[in-house]
Amino acid sequence: MKIVVIGGTGLIGSKTVASLRQSGHEVVAASPQSGINTITSEGLKEAMAGTQVVIDLANSPSFEDKAVLEFFETSGRNLLAAEAAANVRHHVALSIVAIDRTDNGYFRAKRN
Ligand SMILES: NC(=O)c1ccc[n+]([C@@H]2O[C@H](COP(=O)([O-])OP(=O)(O)OC[C@H]3O[C@@H](n4cnc5c(N)ncnc54)[C@H](OP(=O)(O)O)[C@@H]3O)[C@@H](O)[C@H]2O)c1
Repeated sequence: MKIVVIGGTGLIGSKTVASLRQSGHEVVAASPQSGINTITSEGLKEAMAGTQVVIDLANSPSFEDKAVLEFFETSGRNLLAAEAAANVRHHVALSIVAIDRTDNGYFRAKRN
């Protein structure tokens, strides 16, 4: 199965990529480093071709309230549009324990 891990070079993404590859899947470790950027949409169309599952493990470079909200809104919008255009059937997003019970800018941005 072809799986794209957005943020595949990050703390959680790199472990996820290794584990999925060990299980025999074709995995794209997507990040700006590898030419796939959910903010600019660079490389998204090519990465989505033939993909069955996208796992979104991207994180904002800035945790400042406005910046993090803009990051998750723009990244999510671009990613979902690219997935829909390529008929990707499954989107997995990583949430945070108690995200709906703690009020801070980062958690608000993730919830949106
Ligand atoms: N760490 C935790 O304890 C924890 C707990 C619960 C949930 N989460 C969630 O899990 C996700 C990943 O967290 P993490 O700690 O693994 O983050 P991280 O180590 O900071 O990694 C972030 C990843 O996002 C990529 N990225 C940044 N901007 C991007 C863009 N424009 N397009 C595509 N990829 C982009 C980075 O790529 P580059 O390396 O190229 O910059 C990197 O691969 C976050 O959404 C976070 O909220 C984390």
